[in-house]
Amino acid sequence: MQVIASAPAKAILFGEHAVVYGKPAIAMALNKKAHVKVSDNSNNKIYVNVDKLKLSGYLDFKNNNILSDSPKKGILKYILASIKKVHDGSGLDIYIDLDIPIGGGLGSSAAVTVATIAAVSKYNNMDLKKEEIAKYSHEVELEIQKAASPLDTTVSTYGGLIYLEKDAKDIVQLNVNQDIPVVIGYTNSRGNTGKLIEAVRIRKNSYPEIINPVIDSIETVTLNAKDAIITNDKKRIGELMNINHGLLDALGVNTKELSNMVYNARNAGAIGSKITGAGGGGSIIAYCPEGLEKVISVFKETDRALKADISKEGVKVTVSE
Ligand code: MEV
Repeated sequence: MQVIASAPAKAILFGEHAVVYGKPAIAMALNKKAHVKVSDNSNNKIYVNVDKLKLSGYLDFKNNNILSDSPKKGILKYILASIKKVHDGSGLDIYIDLDIPIGGGLGSSAAVTVATIAAVSKYNNMDLKKEEIAKYSHEVELEIQKAASPLDTTVSTYGGLIYLEKDAKDIVQLNVNQDIPVVIGYTNSRGNTGKLIEAVRIRKNSYPEIINPVIDSIETVTLNAKDAIITNDKKRIGELMNINHGLLDALGVNTKELSNMVYNARNAGAIGSKITGAGGGGSIIAYCPEGLEKVISVFKETDRALKADISKEGVKVTVSE
């Protein structure tokens, strides 16, 4: 028996960092996915291979241990914790393919976690509901990262456009029919999310009368953006992204490289562009309802960009005998 599951990556469109202070956020599932293939194996070991990352190893279920010589084996921790939720420890072969860069702030760990839980649970004839997949996946992220909002795992599970309400009271899927063509530009340095959140906190404590209104403004941007997205007001969506980028710059999470990418994208015709995620490295997102090819061409030299659109579909599972 073989089971394949895929789950989309995500990009935050509005509200990163402000969300840490209970403000709302909007994230979109990308049609760039993690694919997890699970099949039988006769030697009673759990073998994992992530070809794209030149990463392979065995998962020692009993001792909660990862046996791998690969230097960057972080993603295997998510896979082991995911399997433990839905498997008894018997032999499995797990092959993972990724359309997304790891560590670019695009929720690759959440996508791998969601797809692994979906694939392995189905392999074991468990019919998990999406809400159970999302719940287990969030627990895995919490276990491995110690802190995580449910945003990434929710987006990977359900797909579409997700609105995280104020104080994370609820997560709602925004009903949209339009495409949302974007270019994601990513740097080869990963921003350290924890350190960036701390740096924002220090800036907020040093200049509360300046930074608190900046965070409040991000909230207003996100609320406006929700309306603009629902009415598919492209120009307004783009302008609000640009404003959001300026406010993130004021929070101190911008870098020269991100800034260059943001402005290059705008100059090439993106209606709006901004940092997506924590900043300090990581990625930018450029909204390109027109001229997407021209925008992607300005990133060609670095070869660190991808075209993406909204994935209305979340996690998906197929079984073959
Ligand atoms: C990181 O992708 C987004 C932040 O807002 C942190 C978080 O929401 O957990 C910076």
